[in-house]
Amino acid sequence: MPIPYMWSKRKSARHIYNIIEAHTKDRKEDLLVDLFTGWFAISEIFIQEGWKTINNDKNKYVMALLEKILEWLPDNIYDWVSRDKFYDVINNPDNYEDWYVWFIQCVWSFGSTQTNYMYWKNIEYIKRIANDFVVNKNIDKIIKDIIPKKYIEWILKQDTIWKRRMALKKVANMLFNKFNKIYKKEYKIYKKIMDNPLWKEYALIFTKWLKSTWITNKEINKLTNSNMWWHYLTQASQPAIPTPEMMDLIKKSNKIKNIPQNIYDLVYDDDYIIKLKKEMIINLLNNKDIIKKLDIIDILENIERIQNLNNLENIQRLERLLSIKVNKQNILSINKWSYNEVEIPKNAVVYCDPPYAWTAEYAEWWFNHEEFWEYIRKLSRTNKVFISEYTAPDDFKVIYRFPQKSSLSGWNQSHNNQPDECLFVYNW
Ligand SMILES: C[S@@+](CC[C@H](N)C(=O)[O-])C[C@H]1O[C@@H](n2cnc3c(N)ncnc32)[C@H](O)[C@@H]1O
Repeated sequence: MPIPYMWSKRKSARHIYNIIEAHTKDRKEDLLVDLFTGWFAISEIFIQEGWKTINNDKNKYVMALLEKILEWLPDNIYDWVSRDKFYDVINNPDNYEDWYVWFIQCVWSFGSTQTNYMYWKNIEYIKRIANDFVVNKNIDKIIKDIIPKKYIEWILKQDTIWKRRMALKKVANMLFNKFNKIYKKEYKIYKKIMDNPLWKEYALIFTKWLKSTWITNKEINKLTNSNMWWHYLTQASQPAIPTPEMMDLIKKSNKIKNIPQNIYDLVYDDDYIIKLKKEMIINLLNNKDIIKKLDIIDILENIERIQNLNNLENIQRLERLLSIKVNKQNILSINKWSYNEVEIPKNAVVYCDPPYAWTAEYAEWWFNHEEFWEYIRKLSRTNKVFISEYTAPDDFKVIYRFPQKSSLSGWNQSHNNQPDECLFVYNW
């Protein structure tokens, strides 16, 4: 789930609009101040309903992307962003424009921290080839190998990236089902072994070797500036194989004189484990045309992989925001301040969707909740203020309680035992 709040209010936005609208019938102006705009879900609906908005969010990257979307997005946003490029942007945001930093994080990341590249190393190349096929109509040999000519032609006939993406998905899905019927047994075994954390077995080989060098835990921690000795040196916790970068550091120890070839391969050769796993499959299936079948299964694997191009799907979601462009003049301003620095017109209705008190995801945003509620008490003297939260101090009143559902989902996150989300007001 790349951006914890990315599409958070999208599902309940219409509902929130209706409630706020109904509770502000006496308003003098259709003007909303959205103090924690995030992904614009709420403001989008208000603008569609003809309101004007003043937007604010302390995250300058989010607001910069919003500005960019409203103005213009360059054509090359569909181009492939490699793993290296992704990490360069994440690690050196100052070298890039603000909007681009956020763009990369929403489109190309995976996992709740937003700092992991979307595709695993070993599938990056096939995803890139599929992306290039859909975006630039380039037909790589692999595409020719896995998709019959007539389907390639049909996909290329589609006149937009979105239509081609859908067409590819359809074709890949159909081919996958067809092949999977024929090679069901083989594919099942293949999957079982490939997806199995056989890794652990090999990690044990690594820890055993490292131990034999007499390197100490202290030395490992010092060299790697981490607390990883526990994983590299013992079998007690999850044994792990260091990344090549980590290994380069460990290697500096004078206890490590030479690295045996198999250990070297484990650390530095991405394909080594895959090769070992394939050997295992061959032994297991023990069948005379198995090599040929494995080739077909590789094709099947690739077909499965090109069904989903999540990066393009994410851009498509972003593009939905473009629909707002039509009423762009209704956005009076876009600010990148803290909520309490925004000047709020007397007639405005205010909506607040602050970082939730109970979610760990927001730990990175240090947010003083007491100060926030105090600010709202004061602001409520002059304006109608609505707050989306799960809990509030006792002197706040719930005017609406949303039935429990993971409003944080959007990607595939689910929070169990979470309290109901509510709309709070003060002093009515
Ligand atoms: C729950 S999200 C808002 C989600 C938004 N309503 C939506 O539907 O997309 C909370 C937002 O508060 C912003 N934020 C955190 N601290 C802030 C502060 N002190 N002032 C303004 N915004 C802040 C974060 O950047 C984040 O975008």
